[in-house]
Amino acid sequence: MSTSDNLILRAFPRGRIDDTTFETVSEAVPAPAAGEVTVANRLVSIDPTMRVWLDDERTYMERLTPGQVMRAIAIGEVEASCAPELPVGTRVLGLTGCRTRATVAASSLQALPDIGPLPLEAHFGLLGHIGMTAWCGLTEIGQLKAGETLVVSAAAGAVGSLAVQVGKLLGCRVIGIAGGRDNVRYLRDTLGIDDAIDYRSEDVSARLGALCPSGIDVYFDNVGGAILEAALEHMALFGRIVACGMISAYNREAVAAPRNLLNIVTRRLRMEGFVILDPRHDGAAAYRALLEWAAAGRIQYRVHAFDGLEHIPEAINTLFDGSHHGKVVVRVG
Ligand SMILES: NC(=O)c1ccc[n+]([C@@H]2O[C@H](COP(=O)([O-])OP(=O)(O)OC[C@H]3O[C@@H](n4cnc5c(N)ncnc54)[C@H](OP(=O)(O)O)[C@@H]3O)[C@@H](O)[C@H]2O)c1
Repeated sequence: MSTSDNLILRAFPRGRIDDTTFETVSEAVPAPAAGEVTVANRLVSIDPTMRVWLDDERTYMERLTPGQVMRAIAIGEVEASCAPELPVGTRVLGLTGCRTRATVAASSLQALPDIGPLPLEAHFGLLGHIGMTAWCGLTEIGQLKAGETLVVSAAAGAVGSLAVQVGKLLGCRVIGIAGGRDNVRYLRDTLGIDDAIDYRSEDVSARLGALCPSGIDVYFDNVGGAILEAALEHMALFGRIVACGMISAYNREAVAAPRNLLNIVTRRLRMEGFVILDPRHDGAAAYRALLEWAAAGRIQYRVHAFDGLEHIPEAINTLFDGSHHGKVVVRVG
């Protein structure tokens, strides 16, 4: 019987993940029954929402309980199969978790298409849930139109850096908000957006006022809290707020709400949240658009890779201190 190294939840964190949150345990992997496959994981996607899944109260999926394997999206290869639709060697993606092997129902997995010279990580980033989040957030939720002013927070991150580029490619004026000089330089000089604000050293509200004199048509919010409050201060009439994420709240038990929610009424704004895992989103449209732009060299993305299952806790924490550059993944197995 094969074995798997599993990252087991031991205790829900209060604040940041620490040494007491997880334990790595080697466990036997059952052979697949009819309709099941055993997957050898290769890459685990590290997403801010993992911290929400670790919240006993606020999670939006089935609650994890101590003793379970930490949930994660992962890519692997079918190693043993009792499901004719997924033969041995098929490359698959699914919520197989933070472990090196898993036996799961074949119906819970997605067989991955060949993406030619693009790296495996692209199935998470550009062509996966990250690209879909940027595209569907802007087009379906934000109803973004050419000529509008788009503001994106956490703009140098995985979702944000794609959202700002999609905004430019759709013909918009794009302002990014990110932390630190390097990120601001990356947004302005490498991604070529119209301007960028450093929320760590600048007055975000004052800068938004100066850079968006006619107001913000679409605010793509990855952060919530004080930055959402600053954006609300400068929304144009009938503007849209894409509530993609509120990372400033994930490590905290209580967060002060924006104090200017009345602006939603007086400026006739629409604010809508979404979860990209819902089937209502048009992933195929996102895939087509992003693949075409990537093939034409019109869109860029970065990957920040860690090696080894034991680095998953550290990798999750980098999302909250801004010490990563691009889509965070952990190579396992
Ligand atoms: N709705 C959905 O279905 C969906 C799907 C995927 C992701 N998301 C959301 O999208 C957002 C970005 O996710 P991602 O995977 O692309 O991660 P990411 O942007 O690559 O990493 C998170 C970034 O958030 C910024 N950040 C962290 N704490 C912050 C704080 N207190 N204030 C301001 N900025 C802070 C940091 O940016 P700096 O380095 O610039 O400080 C960090 O790099 C998250 O909110 C996530 O939950 C939503």
